[in-house]
Amino acid sequence: MEIQKVGVIGAGQMGNGIAHVMALAGYDVVLNDVSQQALDAALSLIHKNMARQASKGKISEDDVQAALARIVPSLTLADVGATDLVIEAATERETVKQAIFEDLQPHLKPHTILTSNTSSISITRLASRTDRPERFMGFHFMNPVPVMQLVELIRGIATDEPTFKACQDVVARLGKTSASAEDFPAFIVNRILMPMINEAVYTLYEGVGSVKSIDESMKLGANHPMGPLELADFIGLDTCLAIMNVLHDGLADTKYRPCPLLTKYVEAGWLGRKTQRGFYDYR
Ligand code: CAA
Repeated sequence: MEIQKVGVIGAGQMGNGIAHVMALAGYDVVLNDVSQQALDAALSLIHKNMARQASKGKISEDDVQAALARIVPSLTLADVGATDLVIEAATERETVKQAIFEDLQPHLKPHTILTSNTSSISITRLASRTDRPERFMGFHFMNPVPVMQLVELIRGIATDEPTFKACQDVVARLGKTSASAEDFPAFIVNRILMPMINEAVYTLYEGVGSVKSIDESMKLGANHPMGPLELADFIGLDTCLAIMNVLHDGLADTKYRPCPLLTKYVEAGWLGRKTQRGFYDYR
């Protein structure tokens, strides 16, 4: 089945990036959020990021205008039901995601493929609450979406082959590379990345190094583009903590215990760049 129209639920950090790359690849996009303010902010950020790509000669001004015209903002899930592929990119909380899929159900066309951009939650469990577990899978982009090459594709226990293939084809049309992951907590990227970030927070917590020395060590000593604490601020400390909790609960191993300092920052509302304060102060 050919995918032509894509519904993206959630216009935040990941959702606006997903709408951006889908529209540039020629898909018609319905970008849905519960907040008009979030939709306005997303559309202006997409415009700004596309303009940046155009100013570097990666795309033309005509590409930008055509892509922007393909994105239709929406405040109602009924609009999303009339698409061929849904990518849910709402908050990383299972109850929120389940409620969205339940509310979406009555509006869906029979053939619509449902996916979640979850970075760690069980695809099999999310799928089991829908009427189409065989046409449900994980479609996990990396941040910043327009720049990062990888998309993790995660099969739930019931995902069928045509669904997987259709999503693989979409990733190829985006000019990105897919990696197939089985449905275990946090899949591949976050299974490896988050314990490293958590260990960097322990390194700070135990006084082994300062924020600056930890980040510089990993940038200059391991050639990482960002230090782990800078990256944590970029991803969002609440998201990092949520993923560590999924690993800790799902794999029942103390090696995934979230660092108490990470928990404390989240409790303080210091969530990284999005709140202007995390391991760094952006005010
Ligand atoms: N949209 C479009 N283009 C963007 C962009 C955006 N949102 N953000 C950056 N860019 C482009 C820039 O225009 C620039 O393009 P050129 O190469 O053509 O000049 C390029 O990306 C690099 O950007 P900058 O020069 O501004 O900055 P940089 O060189 O410091 O790179 C970075 C920024 C790409 C973010 C880099 O620091 C990096 O790769 N960091 C690591 C990111 C990472 O690890 N992401 C994965 C996080 S884990 C995840 O996402 C999974 C999860 O579930 C939590």
